[in-house]
Amino acid sequence: MLEKLEQIKGKIAKGFEEIKNLEALENLRIEIMGKKGELTALFSSLKALGEEEKKAFAKELNSVRSEFESKLDSLKAKLSQEELGRKLRKEYLDTSLFTALKPKSLGHPVNQVMERIIEYFTCINFSIQSGPLVEDDFHNFEALNLPKFHPARDMQDTFYFKDIALLRTHTSPVQIRTMQESSIPIRIIAPGAVFRRDYDLTHSPMFHQVEGLVVDQAGKVSFANLKYILEDFLRAMFGDVKVRFRSSFFPFTEPSAEVDISCVFCGGVGCRVCSHTGWLEVLGCGVVDENVFKAVGYENVSGYAFGLGVERFAMLIHRVNDLRSFFETDLRVLEQF
Ligand code: PHE
Repeated sequence: MLEKLEQIKGKIAKGFEEIKNLEALENLRIEIMGKKGELTALFSSLKALGEEEKKAFAKELNSVRSEFESKLDSLKAKLSQEELGRKLRKEYLDTSLFTALKPKSLGHPVNQVMERIIEYFTCINFSIQSGPLVEDDFHNFEALNLPKFHPARDMQDTFYFKDIALLRTHTSPVQIRTMQESSIPIRIIAPGAVFRRDYDLTHSPMFHQVEGLVVDQAGKVSFANLKYILEDFLRAMFGDVKVRFRSSFFPFTEPSAEVDISCVFCGGVGCRVCSHTGWLEVLGCGVVDENVFKAVGYENVSGYAFGLGVERFAMLIHRVNDLRSFFETDLRVLEQF
């Protein structure tokens, strides 16, 4: 037995010298101290010894065991540390390294164009207003000089809820809300979603408009001011285009005009997109009708207003010929912007 113990001691010493990793260490532990380990076997054989012998040998065995265990623990700690170091070196990430630049999304094309429009007007001191998407008849129609049952309501097919609630058909109700809530001078734009019963190549049931409204004392705001701003605005958006004002009708403006730019596709020569006229209609505008001021209780004021469709602008700027492709969330389309 003593011989056996010497053998084990030798094995332990050699093992500790040679072992380079945790797995080998665990194998050594099992070989010596596991259920069927060599040292464990010696402990079992104690039974066979006489009292005196047993005492002496047990003492010896215990000291070998505790020395083995403490060495095992310290070597285990050392090897774990080394292994962790190796792992960290292998998985090291150099966060200062440059990677190939991933294309960064600039947002939805309609939003991009909306942002450009907003930027133009905020730069010339317009502030931004908003109103509810679910409107009432008064703000969407009545106050804008569109009495109930007036045929002009036909211009805008509408989604109605019960009673007087409807999805707003344009951003013009924000004109009314702004005038009701504040006093002159007023200089605002109102960007936002609007809804109409329409669906084809150039119309969708939901689209976006930007409304503009300027109101000040009587005589201070004129059609000439409107014309100056819109011409400058349209050139900022579309580049070097011709701009023309064409007499038109809106119930809430008088006089009213629709504004055309020379066709961005053919340069004004005439093509399919502009129906061979050389012109593209881009917005509606006019001098605010007296009846609108009456509806909000304003007196001795003058003002102009305009309204434009953001999707239409985006189609012309990006040469997209089907409006619906903006709303189909096809990444192959959206990634091009
Ligand atoms: N609200 C009109 C429309 O949606 C546009 C417009 C706004 C016209 C303001 C004139 C003045 O068609």
